[in-house]
Amino acid sequence: MVDFAYADRSLAQWYDLLNPWGPGDDFSLDLVMSAASVLDVGCGTGTLLHRARALGHRGRLCGLDPADGMLARARRRTDVEWLAGDALSLAGGNRPGPVFDLVVMTGHAFQVLVGDDELRGALAAVRAALSDGGRFAFETRNPLVRPWERWTPDRAVEVTDTDGVTVRVAHRVDLPVRGDVVHFSETFSGPDGARPRVSRSSLRFLDARTLGERLAGAGLTVEEQYGDWDRGPLTADAPEIITLCRAAPAGTRRAPGWGD
Ligand SMILES: C[S@@+](CC[C@H](N)C(=O)[O-])C[C@H]1O[C@@H](n2cnc3c(N)ncnc32)[C@H](O)[C@@H]1O
Repeated sequence: MVDFAYADRSLAQWYDLLNPWGPGDDFSLDLVMSAASVLDVGCGTGTLLHRARALGHRGRLCGLDPADGMLARARRRTDVEWLAGDALSLAGGNRPGPVFDLVVMTGHAFQVLVGDDELRGALAAVRAALSDGGRFAFETRNPLVRPWERWTPDRAVEVTDTDGVTVRVAHRVDLPVRGDVVHFSETFSGPDGARPRVSRSSLRFLDARTLGERLAGAGLTVEEQYGDWDRGPLTADAPEIITLCRAAPAGTRRAPGWGD
């Protein structure tokens, strides 16, 4: 299910303005540029793979996203493969052919995997899409710093496009937050609050220990973990859980023992 705001084309046009290139993108770009073949799951508007190709990446670049609006923008570049579908579709009709050296999920796309079954299926699909020894890189926000507490309407942001049109985006979290899934709304409106359009989303905030268990269950071994984009340590007050893991060869996987 894509209940993500940017499934809608008219809202997707605002995504890159609201989420400009940042240090996380630089971090991911370095990984992409040093991998021969890359799958970007939840690629959004395709900015990362666009940039990699523009910088001379010669290998296979493939982006996957279930949101039409986002993918329409990604497809502006035709020298990258684009697949419509969610992470689970990788294991079904959307098998993207030969395996990849690197799978990435950037921009906290990993957190859209909310349900246990969805997470388990997506991780299995990622593992299946990787070569033995291939790497999976992604980040998820650290639940210990409770970032959703700052997603309040008084912190709304405004951006203006090249035609001078301004949009205001305000977040409101459903309270109280119970468990590790945060449900919230995003309201897109004119600067004066005119013509509001409300979209609802849910994101999961896995803690580092649980995350490690889920990855191990899928045959993905955590090799590096950082708390910020400068590769600082993962501490209790670090903003991110940035994880690089490696696909264990088939036959060496730990039996999945979670979520049952
Ligand atoms: C926050 S955006 C990140 C986009 C891009 N990776 C970036 O860094 O800008 C999350 C993306 O995940 C996609 N998405 C939503 N549900 C998904 C799923 N089940 N599997 C894969 N991608 C999904 C959304 O359509 C959206 O483009």
